[in-house]
Amino acid sequence: MPENTAPPAPKPDLVPGLAGIPAAESAISFIDGNQGLLAYRGHPIESLSEKSNFEETAWLLLYGKLPSRAELDSFSATLAEMRQLPERMIEILRALPGSGHPMDALQASMASFGMFSRHQNFRDTEYSDEAIMRILGAMPVLVAAFDRIRGGKDVIEPDPSLGTAANFLWMLTGHKPSELEARILDVALILHADHTMNASTFAARVVASTEADPYTVVSSAIGALTGPLHGGANERVLEQLREIGEADSVEAWVDGQVTAKRKIMGFGHRVYKVKDPRADILQSLANNLFESHGHTPIYDTAVNLEDEVVKRLGDKGIHPNVDFYSGIVYSKLSIPIDLFTPIFAIARTAGWLAHWREQMASNRIFRPTQIYSGEHEQRYVPIESR
Ligand code: SDX
Repeated sequence: MPENTAPPAPKPDLVPGLAGIPAAESAISFIDGNQGLLAYRGHPIESLSEKSNFEETAWLLLYGKLPSRAELDSFSATLAEMRQLPERMIEILRALPGSGHPMDALQASMASFGMFSRHQNFRDTEYSDEAIMRILGAMPVLVAAFDRIRGGKDVIEPDPSLGTAANFLWMLTGHKPSELEARILDVALILHADHTMNASTFAARVVASTEADPYTVVSSAIGALTGPLHGGANERVLEQLREIGEADSVEAWVDGQVTAKRKIMGFGHRVYKVKDPRADILQSLANNLFESHGHTPIYDTAVNLEDEVVKRLGDKGIHPNVDFYSGIVYSKLSIPIDLFTPIFAIARTAGWLAHWREQMASNRIFRPTQIYSGEHEQRYVPIESR
């Protein structure tokens, strides 16, 4: 390489995982990681969990304000209509291997679902609003139908009189949930609906920036959410609690993990340096369920685990995140463990679509740079001489 006379340009520092680097300007949700605050369009998550429902919260995330009664009724009615999937979508689900993970079935079926209405002008509000409703309506149906099919059971038609949470439990079990069960899942969906620039939302915005269609955007985000460091953690938390067993086995188990510097699932967060506010609310939902459904000893193990981890790692900012108590709530609702992350995806679809709209409103394709650390000017060596 020619001697470079000018001093080398200063290398921009590489920031692993883009930690703390803004990737977009957004008005959708806000986190204060030191105070443990989360708000959607300025509404604290505590107030939405207490007073709102998933449909109203989805509207708020998508359109920036709480809907009027007429807007909410029309939104809910359209969602109910959109839960009726083309019969061929059920055939596609039947063709997928039942032994596969439901997140893979969800990603594959969402991409396939887009084939029924792709290549429209999604900059046209009519098409984009319709696509949003189709995708939001389809997500819980795809998850429930795949679970029924892999279990050799009949697919249950959605009930137009039920909202998203109640319908999901109905389509999954064939039993109408109690008001408490439906409300608890409804709040869990609110809690998981958006969370600023997390990995799957970032993936959604990158794909959206290429002007891919919203079905592809959501299918890509589902893929990113699958990973155990992200949405896949909720499933692993329950496996971890079952591995620990009794509450009095926690201390030795934590010592082993910390000594071996192994990550403890359901703890730590890139932004929160205190307990995730969603974990607090999910913990109280779990307690609400125990009153009606009986106590779960694994909860005592979880509370002990939280105490022991925070004792050792709390000063490093390692506290429970959203995934730590969600699995206990879902298992109390008799939801299979490998559907925990698909439920996360059902809820986060509201956020992913809100970020898609926001990205489209002032788009520039994501194309960061890199710091090259490879070779230059290599000479080709014939294979005989290698
Ligand atoms: C979600 O981003 C979002 O908003 C995500 C999410 C959302 O709503 O979209 O909140 C949902 O994904 C929650 C996170 C679920 N994942 C897990 O529970 C998996 C376990 N957690 C870790 O893998 C980790 O905490 C992350 C991935 C969540 C955050 O990773 P970071 O910010 O890259 O932190 P790091 O891995 O660089 O760790 C910093 C230090 C390290 O110690 P040192 O090398 O500095 O000594 O903290 C330690 C880590 O070893 N650490 C942990 C730990 N998490 C971090 N040590 C033990 N157990 C953990 N869980």
